[in-house]
Amino acid sequence: MKFSSVFSYRIVLAAFMVGVGCTPRGSSNGRLPDSTPPGAAVSGETLTVFMTGNVLSTLQPCGCSSGQLGGLDRRGAVLATAPADQRLVLDTGNLLAGHKPQDMIKLGVLFQAMSMLEYDLVHLTPEDLAAVTNLGLAQGGTFPLITPDGEASCSKKFTVAGQPLTVTVASARADSLDIDSLESLFEQRQALGLNILIIDDASDDVVAKLATLRALDVVICPTAADEPRIIDKGRQKPLLVSVGRLGKYVARLTARPAGDGTLGLDFDKVAVDESLAQDEHLAQLYKDYQVMVKEERLLEGHPRVPLPDGLKYLGNESCRSCHSYEYDKWSKNPHAHAYETLVNVGAQYDPECVKCHVVGFGYESGFISEESPKDLRDVGCEVCHGPGSEHLKSLTTGRGGTGISEPMAKCIDCHNPDHSPGYQGHEEEYLRKIIHWREPEAAGDVK
Ligand code: HEC
Ligand code: HEC
Ligand code: HEC
Ligand code: HEC
Repeated sequence: MKFSSVFSYRIVLAAFMVGVGCTPRGSSNGRLPDSTPPGAAVSGETLTVFMTGNVLSTLQPCGCSSGQLGGLDRRGAVLATAPADQRLVLDTGNLLAGHKPQDMIKLGVLFQAMSMLEYDLVHLTPEDLAAVTNLGLAQGGTFPLITPDGEASCSKKFTVAGQPLTVTVASARADSLDIDSLESLFEQRQALGLNILIIDDASDDVVAKLATLRALDVVICPTAADEPRIIDKGRQKPLLVSVGRLGKYVARLTARPAGDGTLGLDFDKVAVDESLAQDEHLAQLYKDYQVMVKEERLLEGHPRVPLPDGLKYLGNESCRSCHSYEYDKWSKNPHAHAYETLVNVGAQYDPECVKCHVVGFGYESGFISEESPKDLRDVGCEVCHGPGSEHLKSLTTGRGGTGISEPMAKCIDCHNPDHSPGYQGHEEEYLRKIIHWREPEAAGDVK
């Protein structure tokens, strides 16, 4: 597997700047370029910190149903709700769902996207860092990187409501929490400061320790929830928050100088929904990603195993001669154009999409790529009824038994909450829509 194309398709990191350093643990704070030039007269009344994280290899929603949240191409519309000189854009890391070649391609795309979205700072988990280093993405960027073990903090100065305000973001591991060194990372607090810590574990004892850090304002905690939220509503300081997952929302922290030298903080979430304007450059980046997926031949490279008991997929056409009634009915239901649906959105080379839109992906006799027999495309007969080889053998030899075994897939395998949110609770309705058998009453209670 070669990753050269990760960098050749607009993933040109030439725009990355060198020398915007942050702080290794123990030394004084690094600085990002100040957002407001000295002496700037006008300033807004609030500062907004936008936070994303835990994208787990997600660039876009799959698009299997309408109303899905997320997408790098719409994220910019959220960030643009605050002026560039009054916002800080941060990703808290946990970028990968796995370590497959496709995850690595996505990581390159994600870096490119974050640079196009003018991220100020990206935090990497140790796992992220290993992959980023491997791909050569760590060598400087338009945004600095911090990690719990290395460059541990970064600051940026703003002018808000006429006053200087310094935002510092630091990272720490709960298992080697060093309150003194955190104290020194935050100590350079100017008149007004907003100090944010990213931590990998927020159990009670860790939080109790962190609460002794008076300079600490906000702790970003790990999460398994898609929605950003305040973790402990009863706690005033530090504010414990999570930033959500999969890019479905952007977490928003609004800081407002209260006038008495303190800072008022509000936390909320903004849904990245379909009503937001799509950025054409980021939409193009996604198309470039689809081209990379094609050129890396991920479908062909996907692991394949034989079916048990020597069974084989035969394709829809081999059922047609004897089951022409069922075939004709089936060909008028949406399952019969599931592959074309992918072609229409340019996703037919993407194993993550193809697996539910064809017959037997991942099996030797199943769909491999567009070179495969056409009748292995779509959600064909054998997806539900199982591979047909034994059925045909038993019919021709008259050996008894139909050879059509337990169905290979159940509706819910594909119609799961992520890809078909309308399915649960409407099973009967869905089943009725795919009737292709002669007596509807025989349908039974299929799940
Ligand atoms: C040579 C003709 C022939 C072909 C080709 C054929 N079938 Fe059949 N199929 C039959 C016959 C005949 C029955 C009825 C068998 C019985 O009831 O014992 C049947 C029964 C079935 C049943 C009902 C099984 C049951 O348990 O009642 C299913 C489902 C089925 N076929 C699916 C398929 C699929 C999928 C294919 C293509 C892979 C296929 N058939 C190809 C002749 C065929
Ligand atoms: C291998 C994955 C898979 C399995 C298994 C599967 N489906 Fe589907 N289903 C799809 C895909 C993909 C589509 C979208 C097809 C398209 O529009 O291109 C779909 C679409 C549908 C639709 C149309 C939905 C609409 O809004 O119009 C119905 C109804 C449906 N499936 C019912 C079922 C039922 C009932 C079962 C189980 C007996 C089932 N499906 C099993 C993948 C699957
Ligand atoms: C887990 C199985 C699964 C995977 C993986 C999957 N799909 Fe689907 N897809 C479905 C099902 C099921 C439907 C039908 C949803 C419904 O109508 O309830 C569907 C429907 C669609 C539709 C039709 C939406 C419409 O207009 O009605 C599109 C487009 C689509 N998928 C694209 C994709 C893309 C692109 C990917 C990969 C990023 C993908 N799918 C991955 C199961 C899947
Ligand atoms: C999305 C899943 C799905 C697909 C795709 C599908 N079927 Fe079915 N099929 C079913 C279900 C569910 C039933 C009714 C369930 C039952 O009674 O066992 C059924 C019933 C049948 C029956 C009648 C079985 C009986 O016992 O009376 C035949 C024959 C059949 N299908 C053949 C086909 C053929 C041929 C194709 C392709 C052209 C096909 N099916 C595609 C799910 C599917």
